[in-house]
Amino acid sequence: MDTKDLLSEQIAYYRARANEYDEWFLRQGRYDRGPELNARWQSEVTEVRVALDAFNLTGDILELACGTGLWTEQLTQTASSITAIDSSPEMIELNRQRLIGKKNIRYVQTNIFDWKPDRQYDNIFFSFWLSHVPHEQFDAFWNSVRQALRPGGSIFVIDSLYDEQSTARNHHLPDKEATILERRLNSGEIYHVVKVFYTPDELTQRLALLGLQADLTQTSRFFLYGIVY
Ligand SMILES: C[S@@+](CC[C@H](N)C(=O)[O-])C[C@H]1O[C@@H](n2cnc3c(N)ncnc32)[C@H](O)[C@@H]1O
Repeated sequence: MDTKDLLSEQIAYYRARANEYDEWFLRQGRYDRGPELNARWQSEVTEVRVALDAFNLTGDILELACGTGLWTEQLTQTASSITAIDSSPEMIELNRQRLIGKKNIRYVQTNIFDWKPDRQYDNIFFSFWLSHVPHEQFDAFWNSVRQALRPGGSIFVIDSLYDEQSTARNHHLPDKEATILERRLNSGEIYHVVKVFYTPDELTQRLALLGLQADLTQTSRFFLYGIVY
């Protein structure tokens, strides 16, 4: 499939999935992997949340692909302002509802692959987004991110590690090098998305080619996280 069509399908998938998106994160329905694995997932989420708190992302923060706000909410605890970008109006609406009463949040509905930063931010955050950036867009994406970052700022990244139990029970995980995955909604409707899995070392090496430094780590099973600067 042509990359442009694939990225359009990825946008359509998340628009259609917005109302069921949190089931993945909360390990509900098709994503329920039983008490033991659900507890492990939860404890790894806590590990990442603690690391994000400790890093203390302050100032004007740009969040790319903000989704329903599962992490935006945490960012509000340290940020002076948040600019939250997503291509899905449905996701943005859910994010807005989750953050009702919080001040200084600006939403921008746009396709990140067409986005040109119009200002710089103190720090940048994105979770479970980088794996949806195809290899051929990787450099252009990071160049835009760099343009949006004030000198001295950091980028906090969270993403999925390659693990079959991370996704729904009715999703098939092909080998790690495959970059197009089939995804289903609760209705059974099928979409295709980009999914590039990195280990912390692989991502660090790829970023080094762009002159970016990274301090990345991983939880025992599900998540990669850390800082790029
Ligand atoms: C896996 S979700 C991550 C959401 C959120 N960051 C989180 O951790 O819960 C990916 C998000 O990327 C958004 N997205 C997909 N393609 C996009 C694009 N081309 N431009 C902007 N956002 C996009 C989706 O709408 C969705 O909200």
